[in-house]
Amino acid sequence: MTRPVIKGIFKEGLHEEAIRFSASHEFDRKLYRYDIRGSIAWAKMLKKIGILNRIELDKIVGALKRIEKNIDTGKFLFNDNLEDIHMHIEAELKNRIGLIAKKLHTGRSRNEQVALDERLYCRDKIKEVIASLKKLQKVLLKKTKENIDVIIPGYTHLQQAQPISAGHYFLAYVEKFARDIERLLEISKRVDVLVMGSSALAGTTINVDRNFLARELGFKKLSPNSLDAVSDRDFVIEIIFSSALIGMHLSRLAEDIVIWKSIEFDYLDNLNGFCTGSSLMPQKANPDIAELVRGKTARLYGNLVQILTLMKALPMTYNRDMQEDKEHLFDSVDTVLRSLEVFTHLIGSLKFKKDNILMRMSEFVLATDIAEYLVNKKMAFRDAHETVGKIVCFMMDNKKTFSDMTLQEFQKFSKSFDKKFLSILNVNKSVDARVAYGGTSRKNVRREMKNWEKRLSK
Ligand code: ARG
Repeated sequence: MTRPVIKGIFKEGLHEEAIRFSASHEFDRKLYRYDIRGSIAWAKMLKKIGILNRIELDKIVGALKRIEKNIDTGKFLFNDNLEDIHMHIEAELKNRIGLIAKKLHTGRSRNEQVALDERLYCRDKIKEVIASLKKLQKVLLKKTKENIDVIIPGYTHLQQAQPISAGHYFLAYVEKFARDIERLLEISKRVDVLVMGSSALAGTTINVDRNFLARELGFKKLSPNSLDAVSDRDFVIEIIFSSALIGMHLSRLAEDIVIWKSIEFDYLDNLNGFCTGSSLMPQKANPDIAELVRGKTARLYGNLVQILTLMKALPMTYNRDMQEDKEHLFDSVDTVLRSLEVFTHLIGSLKFKKDNILMRMSEFVLATDIAEYLVNKKMAFRDAHETVGKIVCFMMDNKKTFSDMTLQEFQKFSKSFDKKFLSILNVNKSVDARVAYGGTSRKNVRREMKNWEKRLSK
């Protein structure tokens, strides 16, 4: 039995199994840069309030920077006896500069240190995720431009419903990812809070200068309550939640791609860079990347359930359980970043088989247009709906297409059909007639596309 660095009241060592079980450096070492930044700011503050002199400060800062380089280049040795990244850096500092290092932890606790490190990490990662989302939006916008004139069936219940411009489809995802960006920007306000100075839980008798620290570390606000500061992981939950929501959006887009790639649909040309073969069936090209992105959503949801459960019913303030927040936070962030990256390339390569799509589009996607035509001729909508239902039944029973139908045949169902009527039976016209704001008319799609081009070029 040995005792990790902090001896405190203990006369005997900690059980070896307990040392191994509680060590977190294998995953929290990811925070080393942030931990060192925090320590440098803390040391500067201690100098400002007279606890360190200039020489001591220079020694501490110099050694911390060298330790950072060491970890950067993989030369740093980690061991379970030092528990976590905070203890590793502090112990190494003592190895390098001796007694001076002992002053660094004045007034400071790991409870606030870990919260600071996580906030700094989240601040950076929020920016990265937003940048990736914007990249994906730009590619979606490019696809919008390329495909405004490609008419595809829009679906509800996965049944062909009404024709839409493929550009309208892509812009729908630009909107969804815009909300994801908005959400992250909102969360970043709550991340942007300096917790240092809270000490272990109750604040400190040392006259720490928290405003100086906030300026030094670039935080907008100070946490006003030390108990809240060290017990709060809301921001971690919010980021994991946002990641889950991004995953949900990606999974739906992925699902459409998987469906479009099937032989039954066959809407897509050449997705081969993102498909793999079967080890058994020579003819297969499976849309694995879309499937995997869809599949990653499961772990994003898993992480959300984990973190919510982890924090449930924890008594005030810090509890060691909270060490378990990091792996899931890192996993969600990494998973989202990697999924966005590969998906951006996949979307960039999408090409529609226009003719196949038209061939597979049921003529009955125009049924609503016919009903609305009758409404414009003053028929009540419910009557128009019934009339068109009868026409569709008649055509199905007699295996007729619109081009087989004469005006006289239509007129048997309603006298309101006139000469101009046959000309509306066209998917392009149907799309362009949906001019109400937000609809799929190509005029609307073009306008929205221009708006987004402006917004995204900023
Ligand atoms: N490794 C710990 C964590 O990640 C750091 C804080 C430890 N504090 C303590 N009182 N044991 O939560």
